[in-house]
Amino acid sequence: MTALDDRTTADLVRELEPVAARELDRHLAMAKEWFPHEYVPWSEGTNFDGEYDGDAWAEGQSPVDAVSRTALVVNLLTEDNLPSYHRALSDITGRESAWGEWVHRWTAEEGRHAIAMRDYLTVTRAVDPVALERERMDHMGHGFESVHEESVLTTMAYVSFQELATRISHRNTGRHTDDPGCDRLLARIAADENLHMLFYRNVMEAAFHLSPDAAMQAVAQVAENFAMPGSEVEGFTRRSLTIALAGIYDLRIHHDEVLAPVLRAWNVWDREDLGPEGVAARERLAAFLAGLDADATRFEQRRAERAARAAAASSA
Ligand SMILES: [Fe+2]
Ligand SMILES: [Fe+2]
Repeated sequence: MTALDDRTTADLVRELEPVAARELDRHLAMAKEWFPHEYVPWSEGTNFDGEYDGDAWAEGQSPVDAVSRTALVVNLLTEDNLPSYHRALSDITGRESAWGEWVHRWTAEEGRHAIAMRDYLTVTRAVDPVALERERMDHMGHGFESVHEESVLTTMAYVSFQELATRISHRNTGRHTDDPGCDRLLARIAADENLHMLFYRNVMEAAFHLSPDAAMQAVAQVAENFAMPGSEVEGFTRRSLTIALAGIYDLRIHHDEVLAPVLRAWNVWDREDLGPEGVAARERLAAFLAGLDADATRFEQRRAERAARAAAASSA
């Protein structure tokens, strides 16, 4: 093991602080101020039952299909659990210096996502607000335990992938709703997620220069064990299958549009600064990706067969 790999998380956080400062400045220059209330069609809203004696939610009121509702609820519950993500991130980075400024700014931006989505879905009656609130209580009640909390390297690698995955999931959910207002809102949120991804991806790129073997090992470990933050939502497996069958987020997207481009941005495949441990981790990662690619192809085939069977059944 080289001396560089003896760096502790505290060493790395300190050494990466100038990078965090640079990326924070870049982020602040790029980020566009926007307001949730401008994205919500308030005049479409009517009172609910209870305090204002209006109409309870019923499925027939929803302007979007059941698959879109599933994706919208999973995406919103994922945003809702922000306090736990804030804690997980600030436990690693601390709340001082540019790191602290970033974590607070990021938290405020993520908070806007849940506010805007909840207002939109409530006013348009897209999802059941009672079920949503009960699920939020349940989901937040479980907190969030990242498997990466011990290391700044695995944490930065994880959030690089996760922010890009979230961006794509929001974007594709918006398109799937066939609701132009919902699509506009989720496109706006997705643009924020892209800037978040850039911050983390660029910090991780700097970490590769500081400590290439440790960074490579962290990336391989995270890619192999990746799970979305919303995977703790009740019924996630069933819901994520629904979302994958609709092509909103599936293994093909995860492989081709999330893992592959981020790994390319870190020049993972052509790095010449890796020692034996880094090279071994890269080989493991390559084997994992080949397996994922094959799984993605199998899923696509099964989905096509399923669609063909459904089409045949409906025309019979
Ligand atoms: Fe978000
Ligand atoms: Fe984000």
